[in-house]
Amino acid sequence: MSKTALLELAPWRALKEQRARWGSWTLETLFREHPGRATEFSAEACGIYLDYSKNWLTPEIFGLLLDLARACGLKERRDAMFAGDHVNRTESRAAFHAALRAPSGTVMCVDGENVVPQVQEVLHHMAEFTGNIHSGNWRGATGRRIRQVVNIGIGGSYLGPEMAYGALRQWRHPDLHVHFLANVDGAAFRDISRQMDPAETLFIVASKTFTTLETMTNARLARQWIAEALGEQAVPRHFVAVSTNAEAVRSFGMDPAHMFGFWDWVGGRYSLDSAIGLSTMLATDNGVFQEMLRGFHAMDCHFREAPLEQNLPVLLGMVAIWNNNFWDAESQAILPYAYDLARLPAYLQQLQMESNGKSIDMDGRQLQVRSAPIIWGEPGTDGQHSFYQLLHQGTRLVPCDFIGFCQPLSDLGDPHDLLMANMFAQAEALAFGKSDEVLRKEGVPEWQIPHRISPGNRPSNVLLADALTPYTIGALLGLYEHSVFTQGTIWNIDSFDQWGVELGKVLSQRILQDMRGETAHFHDGSTRSLLQRYHEKRHTSSAGE
Ligand code: F6P
Repeated sequence: MSKTALLELAPWRALKEQRARWGSWTLETLFREHPGRATEFSAEACGIYLDYSKNWLTPEIFGLLLDLARACGLKERRDAMFAGDHVNRTESRAAFHAALRAPSGTVMCVDGENVVPQVQEVLHHMAEFTGNIHSGNWRGATGRRIRQVVNIGIGGSYLGPEMAYGALRQWRHPDLHVHFLANVDGAAFRDISRQMDPAETLFIVASKTFTTLETMTNARLARQWIAEALGEQAVPRHFVAVSTNAEAVRSFGMDPAHMFGFWDWVGGRYSLDSAIGLSTMLATDNGVFQEMLRGFHAMDCHFREAPLEQNLPVLLGMVAIWNNNFWDAESQAILPYAYDLARLPAYLQQLQMESNGKSIDMDGRQLQVRSAPIIWGEPGTDGQHSFYQLLHQGTRLVPCDFIGFCQPLSDLGDPHDLLMANMFAQAEALAFGKSDEVLRKEGVPEWQIPHRISPGNRPSNVLLADALTPYTIGALLGLYEHSVFTQGTIWNIDSFDQWGVELGKVLSQRILQDMRGETAHFHDGSTRSLLQRYHEKRHTSSAGE
């Protein structure tokens, strides 16, 4: 479908009209007119309750949003993705992450081949390895047990595992600590390596391509660190690889028998369920990992089968489209009221912004509408004491996703009620605010009133799950994955490529060669003078000067 077609679709045009005719309706008036709104605009699946009633929706707009999803071929494209078709058109690949969490025995084919047995085989290999590390069958070269694991990887080979390590904190193995080395910054390596004893450390080099420079540079540093401490022969006992590129793993000097494979139909930001999740399984155990996969799979089934009006990923995605494309929201805040989900905003940042941060559609045409919003956020209540001021009284519209859990994760009950009271209060305050009238009744001096008004009428979703469990985490991540897919489908975007990150990688290589004096590429005036200054100061300034 071309961009013109999107703008000309009847539901799109009707939504434009609805927006133009919106007038002075506010969330307050919407709730006043329809007291049953919270029930009407909420849905539940896989242990997650979504209340999207605090958005600028009417039954008519809601119906039009679903019509738009239908008109954009969401069902067909979803079915094509689950059928293993090459929905990643620009790379001519399937986007088949759903096969990673399909129960064994399911048949899911890519290019005529059932991939589920291969998936199960790798999961089995991961479980066996995890068992060996936990039992002490696999030890370091000196015979000491492995107690520290370092996942070396970046982007999708890091953000998912790091987020899951936090999210699954309660299920962590007591004697195993996982660290993450992503950034190519000696300070990061130094910091992590200071906390570890080489004899007890296992490195997982996690890279789909096994060519990513940050990862390979860190892997080489780690290899050197192990070799210097324990000798070259110790390397195989302290390194395993996760990759789709067996050849590159071999040429790096690692034993392919200690490689956990995956496939080109798994996108980096959709790879937590693959062997990229090895650190997650090691940090917990196979049972916990399987539970997470079960949650993902349940959400896959829900997305495939539930009618659109009750389909959580569709609802979340279409509400985001409404806010973004019809109300010009430029960003979206992810606000988990759970300490253990601290890295969820960063994970969702890659998921949405790398998937849908595009301005060309699937047919090579310039998009005429906004695509991915900027995703950002922090856990509550930390965010409340920093950026919520802008959410409540700033000049920008920032739709928020509040994510909370009914059950506490600790046995210290009181803080949980306070935490959740804060979450509900923030969503309420954003929607309904505080008027000058109320302030006046409270006796606030007239001059102060403008500063203290909270205008309200700011949209949000609340995602409320019973408890933060491995299953719920899987379901929650699956929900966002498919919501991102839903939005990409409306924009007719290839949500599974990421060509935009390539240029910077190529230029950094050229600049590195220039720095080493191997080449002298042409650069613009700004880059040239920055490089010159860097060159002059690089070896002369000392830290802190
Ligand atoms: O640079 C972006 C990217 O390609 C991401 O899509 C990916 O998750 C990340 O780099 C890491 O790639 P790899 O797993 O191949 O090292």
